[in-house]
Amino acid sequence: MVPVIAGLRPAGEGENAAVQRSPEAKLEEAVGLTQAIDLDVVAARVVRLQAPRPATLFGTGKVDEIGAIVKQEEAGLVIVDHPLSPVQQRNLEKAWGAKVLDRTALILEIFGARARTREGTLQVELAHLKWQKSRLVRTWTHLERQRGGFGFLGGPGETQIEADRRQIQERISRIERELEEVKRTRGLHRANRRKVPHPTVALVGYTNAGKSTLFNRLTDANVLSQDLLFATLDPTLRRIRLPHGGEAILSDTVGFISELPTHLVAAFRATLEEVVAADLILHVRDISHADSDAQAADVLKTLDLLGVEARDSRRVIEVWNKVDLLDPERHAKLLAETGSGAVAVSALTGEGTDALLARVEAVLAAGRSTRHLCVPVEDGELLAWLHRSVEVIARNDTEAGVELTVRIPQRQADLFRSRAGRYLTD
Ligand code: GTP
Repeated sequence: MVPVIAGLRPAGEGENAAVQRSPEAKLEEAVGLTQAIDLDVVAARVVRLQAPRPATLFGTGKVDEIGAIVKQEEAGLVIVDHPLSPVQQRNLEKAWGAKVLDRTALILEIFGARARTREGTLQVELAHLKWQKSRLVRTWTHLERQRGGFGFLGGPGETQIEADRRQIQERISRIERELEEVKRTRGLHRANRRKVPHPTVALVGYTNAGKSTLFNRLTDANVLSQDLLFATLDPTLRRIRLPHGGEAILSDTVGFISELPTHLVAAFRATLEEVVAADLILHVRDISHADSDAQAADVLKTLDLLGVEARDSRRVIEVWNKVDLLDPERHAKLLAETGSGAVAVSALTGEGTDALLARVEAVLAAGRSTRHLCVPVEDGELLAWLHRSVEVIARNDTEAGVELTVRIPQRQADLFRSRAGRYLTD
């Protein structure tokens, strides 16, 4: 049972005013995030902050008012959608007799609950520990100051906190070592995949936009038996077949969230490397959501942090998902707007997904040239190289030789010309 309380930030703080969420929308988002991890929200309020108090954030009157709700609803947890210092958190927990989480803690909980890979779980745990450690340091300084009058170090409380810090540091080091290993393996897999000439397509989007549903929809309908290999290595990577014979590797990534604290972005950098390395990015949006524009702006901001040029239509396709939830009028209007480059789909019903795959193939093909060639059967070595290094989309064994239609990734263009140029037929 969790009341959600949204703290109000000063208007315009670090956000584009055009897509700034209203306090009510922020509250609704926080409620949605809380429900996403199966917590039962019993009350939700917007609290206007006149002047944040260092000890309790809210003024005494508000603390009591919220305390009464907590008591009445017998809530075990209060979520404050605003950063809390360790001191504020502790004081509020004492005042309300309930556990208190702030936004960073809530995001960590969500990522923890949603992590689908070993790497994801480790990353969340690491971010959690680092965050805990930073808060211990502050609490420790605070206690030290309180006890300063005794003029000695090493009191029982301090020893405990130091022991806690050491324990946290040991766990951090262990996880970092484990992550390094996972990362190395992932790097090897990526290098292997690079050798396979298939382009990679990464799904990104705000949390709950429908990435995983779309991932499953696109891969289930176009599944290849070799996928099992990828699926067991990493459930977030699969090979898909495109309408005109091409193939691509699709990767699902973590959901983005507004005001993702920068140190969390850093924690997920390894996963996000998949995004940066992808040939094409599908930005999945819940177009039925009232906050869709603000969510999209948050995703673009995060892509920007990663150094991805999000407004380049050769790099990013916007996918407007959940069109099944729109009323017919909005639906029709939206479809008319997709001329601007977006593709409208419903991952749930499958509407629009063929068009999406066709667009993916077209954009990928635009960056790769398609050529025809006829290779003598005897040149087995060249044939093997072609199958390994460029994308073979058609093969026809004739008496004159092996006729191939291939797509050549930019990075292989020079090598292709020198090795196979003499057999080109177009
Ligand atoms: P994160 O893992 O948090 O990043 O979420 P996600 O983007 O992977 O979203 P997910 O696929 O888990 O979908 C979130 C919710 O939206 C689920 O309840 C889905 O059933 C629902 N959903 C996804 N696509 C559609 C759609 O096209 N239409 C409708 N009506 N619901 C959808």
